[in-house]
Amino acid sequence: LLQAAIFDLDGVITDTAEYHYLAWRQLANSIGIDFDKDINEKLKGISRMKSLELILQVGGKENSYSNEEKEVLAEEKNEVYKQLIINISEKDILVGIVAFLEQLKQNNVKIALASASKNAPAIINNLKLKQYFNEIVDVTKIKRGKPDPEIFLTAAKMVNVDPQNCIGIEDAKAGVEAIKGAGMFAVGVGLKESLGKADLLVSNTSELDYEEIATKFKAY
Ligand code: G6P
Ligand code: MG
Repeated sequence: LLQAAIFDLDGVITDTAEYHYLAWRQLANSIGIDFDKDINEKLKGISRMKSLELILQVGGKENSYSNEEKEVLAEEKNEVYKQLIINISEKDILVGIVAFLEQLKQNNVKIALASASKNAPAIINNLKLKQYFNEIVDVTKIKRGKPDPEIFLTAAKMVNVDPQNCIGIEDAKAGVEAIKGAGMFAVGVGLKESLGKADLLVSNTSELDYEEIATKFKAY
């Protein structure tokens, strides 16, 4: 039985994935590394420091910075990112999300957030969506990032639902892998090329529909 829905944030609830991309591109370019959407695709769902390390690797600069310098670079990116999301509000909720959250609530499905972003609680507040979430995972307590299933398993535990009765909703390859690793039904939002492992794929959030997902979930 479908008893809990565990959401990713960036790129699923709001289009902050685009702001992460812009902020990383600015940071990468500032240290002489080319940055494009292909590299960015690999950063979706990946923690701030891991993302920086991947960018340095792509640019052949993985040994050019000390840990302290890397902290400074990561902080720089976050400052740019925070400027980009400073005016984020209800108007930035992706189409169909509020209706989908309402459907879940009406069907007594618990709702949790499993975002790798330390900015997630602030964003959920600014989007005025806090009321929908039974639980929000504190990512600072998570030891292993996506694609490890830890964050989804933690969310399931927090809402007290067996993983097999949960669905996870993700726009990132690493995220879909984390959901599958947790033994859950994965709903992918995006393209088949990156999200082929999802159990159900929609091309955008306006297609998220409780009845369709519940039917596929039952048959699965
Ligand atoms: C999400 C995004 C990533 C981002 C990560 C950390 O998973 O998809 O692009 O790097 O969160 O976000 P933060 O806000 O903590 O830098
Ligand atoms: Mg995402």
